[in-house]
Amino acid sequence: MSPVIDKITDTSGKKVDVVKSWDAGDPRPRVMLTAAHCVTQKSGSVTEIAGLEVVSGNTNIAAVGKVVQQVEKIIPHPDYDDDTMANDIAILILSEAPNPVPDGANPRSIALPHPADVASYKSVTAAHSVMGWGTTENGFLSQFLMPVRVPYSDQAACKATYSGIGWDVHATSFCTGFVSGGFDSCQGDSGGVLFHRPTTGANSNQLAAPVLTGIVSWGRGCGLPGFAGVYADVAGQRAWIENEVIKSLN
Ligand code: ARG
Repeated sequence: MSPVIDKITDTSGKKVDVVKSWDAGDPRPRVMLTAAHCVTQKSGSVTEIAGLEVVSGNTNIAAVGKVVQQVEKIIPHPDYDDDTMANDIAILILSEAPNPVPDGANPRSIALPHPADVASYKSVTAAHSVMGWGTTENGFLSQFLMPVRVPYSDQAACKATYSGIGWDVHATSFCTGFVSGGFDSCQGDSGGVLFHRPTTGANSNQLAAPVLTGIVSWGRGCGLPGFAGVYADVAGQRAWIENEVIKSLN
């Protein structure tokens, strides 16, 4: 994700920065989103930056030709709560990439959801996709990026299944997955991308560019019937993200 920042004059005549767009397609974006639980300790302190790398540009995690970027700043959501998993989101501001983008590697930034799109993807008929190098049914991490499509879940049903075992799906999260289970993100996928492609065109039969709808957060087991995957809701965090990014990139 990479913002294009615009200077505008507000009603009091003051010059302020606003985020004009998030989808500039920057091959080496400097803003990354992840889960707060990936970059914070139980004590509440933030993970050490030294040694933290952001790797992109290849679906094979063991490949040589990939883009490696260092992290300059970690900004966990101030209201992240590791008991309720509320606001499980963090921003990483990356230093300039130290290496060039290798041939064939094509990392791309993804747009943040626009408030006006939300109704269309928060619908049980809407497909989302999630991907990661997390564990598969054999119990091991995957060397290759594994994508899976999951529908937006009926939120009342998802909340009800989890409350049956005493777990709460916080209002800053939402669930995706089939009622019958079987397709899900899993351990090691946390912090990863859940996205939706809105339909476009006169007959709504074309797919527009992907929009980042969620961040992999938690679940009970993986792919269990009724226990859908739980994701941090990105749309609700847009104002916080924009604010932090503008502060950090200026
Ligand atoms: N908390 C996990 C992680 O740290 C993600 C679990 C997602 N689980 C699920 N059933 N969707 O990688």
